[in-house]
Amino acid sequence: MSTYLITGGAGFIGSHLAERLLDDGHEVIVLDDLSTGSLENLETAGRNRRFKFVGGSVQDYATVSELVEPAETVFHLAATVGVMTVMKHPVATMRNNVRGTENVLEAAARSTPRKKVIVTSTSEVYGQMESVPFLEEGGLMLGPTHNIRWGYAASKLVDEFLALAYRHEFSVPTVVVRPFNTIGPRQTGEYGMVVPRFFEQALDGRRDIHPRTRGAHHPADRGQSGHPERAL
Ligand SMILES: NC(=O)c1ccc[n+]([C@@H]2O[C@H](COP(=O)([O-])OP(=O)(O)OC[C@H]3O[C@@H](n4cnc5c(N)ncnc54)[C@H](O)[C@@H]3O)[C@@H](O)[C@H]2O)c1
Repeated sequence: MSTYLITGGAGFIGSHLAERLLDDGHEVIVLDDLSTGSLENLETAGRNRRFKFVGGSVQDYATVSELVEPAETVFHLAATVGVMTVMKHPVATMRNNVRGTENVLEAAARSTPRKKVIVTSTSEVYGQMESVPFLEEGGLMLGPTHNIRWGYAASKLVDEFLALAYRHEFSVPTVVVRPFNTIGPRQTGEYGMVVPRFFEQALDGRRDIHPRTRGAHHPADRGQSGHPERAL
């Protein structure tokens, strides 16, 4: 049995991850400020005695460091997401995504032994790349800085660089993942996530949906990958 800290664990992906880790017999601590997540997402996890919820922000280093200490591995998912939030609050988006990640990595670096950190980036970092398949070793092409939406991708790119820099300089075992559109129960279209909005419009008869070659992931998938479709 291991202890996992999930930042952003009250969100769509994080709450499914929490359930999966609990099912596998582990202890799970969730740190979430409930900005886009909710306690309802944690109803199932909350019934498990190996689960603990802490309300708070990854921007608060003292809280992060206290929770990283008992964990063996940290899944860092907390971030400002959704195109509507990103466009409305570009400064808060960059601050939250970069400071939060730096705090998690710093706490992991200061603890003994150093903690493994999985940093959640996004397929959005591929930006305007058109040549598929997208490759981790390949180049990236963001749009112009006067278009605010790219601030989200840029913040996630800084997160990636930070994760790899902490590995390089302080030997923190870090892993970066770049999810593509992930779809399933508990995802909300409220903050501009595109797929739930398409489905709401289709159900209202305002949009036709046609099968395309691009695919998506379900958050409970065990590592199977779909085809690339970029997502905020
Ligand atoms: N869903 C997708 O298709 C997709 C695609 C690419 C990347 N991602 C990434 O996966 C991660 C999870 O995304 P999601 O779709 O589950 O979104 P979500 O909004 O459901 O989850 C994010 C969670 O982080 C929490 N949070 C935000 N700021 C916080 C802070 N300062 N302190 C503590 N908690 C905070 C929110 O309350 C929420 O519960 C994010 O990092 C996102 O960038 C998701």
